[in-house]
Amino acid sequence: MRDKITELSRSIANFEMNDIVQLEAFRIQFLGSKSEIKTLFGELKSVPNEDKKSVGKELNDLRVQAEEKFTNFRSQLETANIEKESIDFSRTGESFTVGSHHPISLVRSEIIEIFNRIGFVVSEGPEIEDDWHNFSALNFPPEHPARDMQDTFFIEKGEKEMALRTHTSSVQVRVMENQKPPIRTISPGRVYRNEAISARAHCFFHQVEGLYIDKNVSFADLKQTLLYFAQEMFGEKAQIRLRPSYFPFTEPSAEVDVSCTICNAKGCNVCKHTGWLEILGCGMVDPNVLEAAGIDSTMYTGYAFGMGIERITQLKYKVNDLRLYSENDVRFLKQFTPSI
Ligand code: DAH
Repeated sequence: MRDKITELSRSIANFEMNDIVQLEAFRIQFLGSKSEIKTLFGELKSVPNEDKKSVGKELNDLRVQAEEKFTNFRSQLETANIEKESIDFSRTGESFTVGSHHPISLVRSEIIEIFNRIGFVVSEGPEIEDDWHNFSALNFPPEHPARDMQDTFFIEKGEKEMALRTHTSSVQVRVMENQKPPIRTISPGRVYRNEAISARAHCFFHQVEGLYIDKNVSFADLKQTLLYFAQEMFGEKAQIRLRPSYFPFTEPSAEVDVSCTICNAKGCNVCKHTGWLEILGCGMVDPNVLEAAGIDSTMYTGYAFGMGIERITQLKYKVNDLRLYSENDVRFLKQFTPSI
């Protein structure tokens, strides 16, 4: 046994290791479960009692020798690897730029959240729309100027002439056709108009449509909902005023102004010294519109409203040029809340 131990000790000392494969071979040969050292430990019981202690110690020393050689070479390899990858752990981390939400997305989400709190659910419809949903069902007479090529982008889709929707009111029609009252929904989305691009007009922009239909819905409900929205969006001091207006799909109709958020209604350039800013159109859904979508207008009434997201964003963030929203200039975009 002693000879065997001496011989093994020599082999351990002479074992040459240069890489991880040899390290593993060493481990298997001297420290693995089938190694000769393990076998010798097993044979210890047949050593005469008077020698057991000293032979046991020699065997133990042999194992320690193998273990030390193994761990030493392993840490040598690790250090070499680190040097190869040249990682300098003392170096400070590099900062990276976190993206930001587009201001239109921020305001869109905020509008949705505000209306969610009072029971409105989101519904969506297609951007490529037919005449029925964009115009006819909304009570636009055939000769209405909005149907003109000058305002609307028409496209051919198969046999049918289609249009890029000019407003999100088309989604109202789709919801009314597919759901039974009570209906309480908002429809955010992109709309298109054949306009020359300038600081104040664009050929595409975003709107949010609102629709509430039930028994006994009144104009007072509409006013209260819009006041709630204005105060949630612009702060509790915000006031609204309604001016009589005309839309084919609502009767009566109104345009809504909010007290100027920039000068606190004192009068400034943005509100043209009136103290008021126009933010949306609204009204009671015209009975013709309810009937066109299959809703009994003798039983149900409803209100609708539509606002431009760019307009709300302009007032909230004081953006004075519509083109900024689609130019993707990072200097503009990075000014908005980071996404994490
Ligand atoms: N669709 C109108 C527009 O694009 C906005 C609007 C006005 C929507 C009044 C409505 C409404 O639902 O009742 O200018």
